[in-house]
Amino acid sequence: MSLSSPQNNSPLITDSPQIASEFLMNGEVVAFPTETVFGLGALIKFEEAVKKIYKLKGRPQDNPLIIHIADLSQIEALVEEVPEEAQKLIKAFWPGALTLIFKKKSSLSNSLTCGLKTVAVRMPSHRLARELIRLCDCPVAAPSANLSGKPSATKTEHVLQDFEGKIPCILKGETVFGLESTVVDCSSKPFRILRQGSVSEEEIKKILSGGFFSSKEKQDEKDFPKSPGMKYRHYSPKAEIVLFSKDQELLSVPPFSALIGINVGLSDFEHKNLKTKFIAKDLEDYAKNLFAFFRECDQRGIATILCELPPEEGIGKALVERLKKAASD
Ligand code: TXA
Ligand code: MG
Repeated sequence: MSLSSPQNNSPLITDSPQIASEFLMNGEVVAFPTETVFGLGALIKFEEAVKKIYKLKGRPQDNPLIIHIADLSQIEALVEEVPEEAQKLIKAFWPGALTLIFKKKSSLSNSLTCGLKTVAVRMPSHRLARELIRLCDCPVAAPSANLSGKPSATKTEHVLQDFEGKIPCILKGETVFGLESTVVDCSSKPFRILRQGSVSEEEIKKILSGGFFSSKEKQDEKDFPKSPGMKYRHYSPKAEIVLFSKDQELLSVPPFSALIGINVGLSDFEHKNLKTKFIAKDLEDYAKNLFAFFRECDQRGIATILCELPPEEGIGKALVERLKKAASD
C-alpha cells in the first residue's frame, strides 16, 4: 500500500483501522470516529504531527489536547498519579465519553499540554478508535476534527468539509452521542466538571462520595480556571444563533431561518421565513443531530438558526452549554 495521498489530493477514506494506523505510524494526521465526535489524531511520540494538528485546525496555542488511550496500561507514561476517587470514575465510565484531567508526567511534551501541569486523558469506547490506537501501540492526541470555532464533526462528510486536501486519511465510521466527552478535573479536590457531556453530572455524583465533587455552577475564573478551550467561541455555524425556551413564543422569525428544538408543539409551527426545521424525539436525538443541523444550515445559506433550550437534565446540560457557547460572540 502506498502511504501517499491520492493524486487529486482528497484523503483516502477507509474503514480499515489497519490502513489508518499505517498513516499515523508514518507521522501523519488522521481523522477517526469516536462515540462522541470525530477526532483529528496524531501519535503523541511525533511532535511535528502534534504541532500540525494545531495548524490544520487554526487552534489557539494555549488549548491543550486530549490524549486517547486503548487500555489502562498506557496511562502510566502520561500521569503522575491517579487518585483513588478517580479510579472509581475510570471503573464506572471507561471506556467511554469521559475525559479526566490528571497531574501530568513531567516528561510529557509541552505541545500536548500547552505548558500546563495537567493532562487530559480519555479511553474511547468506539471499536474503531480503540483498534486504531491499539494497532499503533501509542496513545493518540486528538481534538475534535473541526476547524477551530466550528461545530464538531459527527460524520465523515463533516471532516471532509473542513479538511479536504489537508489530511491524507479519514477512518470512516459512525459517531454515537454527537457531543464531545464530559471533562472532569481530577487534578485537585474537589473534582469538578469543566465541560458537560454525555456522561451526566447526575451519573458522576452517584459514583463520587460527598466532598469529592463540586458542581458549583457559577465558576469564578480566579478560584477555578476552566478548560482553556472553553473561553473561545465554539461550536458556531456561520448563521446567527438565537436561543429561546419552551415557554417563550417565537415572536419573530427573520428571513432565511431554521429551527431546531425538542418541544412537540413546534412540529406544527409554520412561518414563511422558516426554511427548515428539526424536531428531536428526545434529548439524545437533539444532541446527536445538533452539529449536523448547524452544518446543513450553513450549506443551505440559512441566516438565523432558532434553537430551543432543552431542560437541563442528563445530556440536556451539555446541550445547553453548547447552545449558549454557539450563540456567544
Ligand atoms: O469527545 C471528545 O472529547 C473529543 C473526541 C475526539 O475525543 N475531543 C474533543 O477535544 O472534544 P477538544 O480538543 O475539541 O476539546 C478538549 C477540551 C478543550 O476544551 C481543552 O481546553 C480541554 O479539553 N483540555 C485539554 N487538556 C486540558 C487540561 N490539561 N486541563 C483542562 N482542560 C483541558
Ligand atoms: Mg473541539
